[in-house]
Amino acid sequence: MRFGIISDIHANLEALEAALAWLDTQSVDEIVCLGDVVGYGPDPLECCRLVRARAKVCLMGNHDAAVVGAMSTRFYYDAARQVIEWTRGRLDQESLRWLYSLPYTYLRRDAGVGFFHSAPILPSGFFYVVRKEDAQNHARIFDRLMPVSLMGHSHLTKAFRLYRDKAKDISGKPLEGDEESKLLVNVGSVGQPRDRNPLGCCGVFDSAQRSFVHHRFDYNREETARKIEKLGLSPRFAQRLFTGE
Ligand SMILES: [Fe+2]
Repeated sequence: MRFGIISDIHANLEALEAALAWLDTQSVDEIVCLGDVVGYGPDPLECCRLVRARAKVCLMGNHDAAVVGAMSTRFYYDAARQVIEWTRGRLDQESLRWLYSLPYTYLRRDAGVGFFHSAPILPSGFFYVVRKEDAQNHARIFDRLMPVSLMGHSHLTKAFRLYRDKAKDISGKPLEGDEESKLLVNVGSVGQPRDRNPLGCCGVFDSAQRSFVHHRFDYNREETARKIEKLGLSPRFAQRLFTGE
């Protein structure tokens, strides 16, 4: 089976449309969204509607949780907290109810893959898996992990191969599962990449080959930035679309 993966869209409609257009050329069987549909960007309602229409499953991200009040915004910096409140006002009841209903995990034993917004060890904890030590912590649940775990949240493309006693950083290398290790893969962000590459990111997981491939794509970020400016959202949210930071 081929899964099209989108994550961390952050209300960036132009990037979401570009990601879906590419996935439409990849003969995927289903699309899975790993969460953070909203937050930062100018089109939360349109992104909720499009993800609902196109993804078979969408997970709960921390920004989604914050918008529906399922998570405190105490730890967000001012501009991020303000945009969460602004987002709440832009959504209709149906989208708010949908966001509130999202699950933290999606496990597909038949395809050997688990989907998460953040670290599989505690899906509601919103921890990152970006350092080797973060990956290594998962040795405690080695037997419970699927052969491949796909995660959003970091907006990075870092990947790790986990053994019972160690973890290896395999970022940038071909990502293929094998018999003795488990893969932990950050799938990157559709709408707000942070790996100093402004191109959007999505991906495809092929269960027959146990492989995951990141795909970087260009999109009309000038239009997204123009909307952010027009709506009076923080200019920093527009700037970072050009720098990927
Ligand atoms: Fe995010």
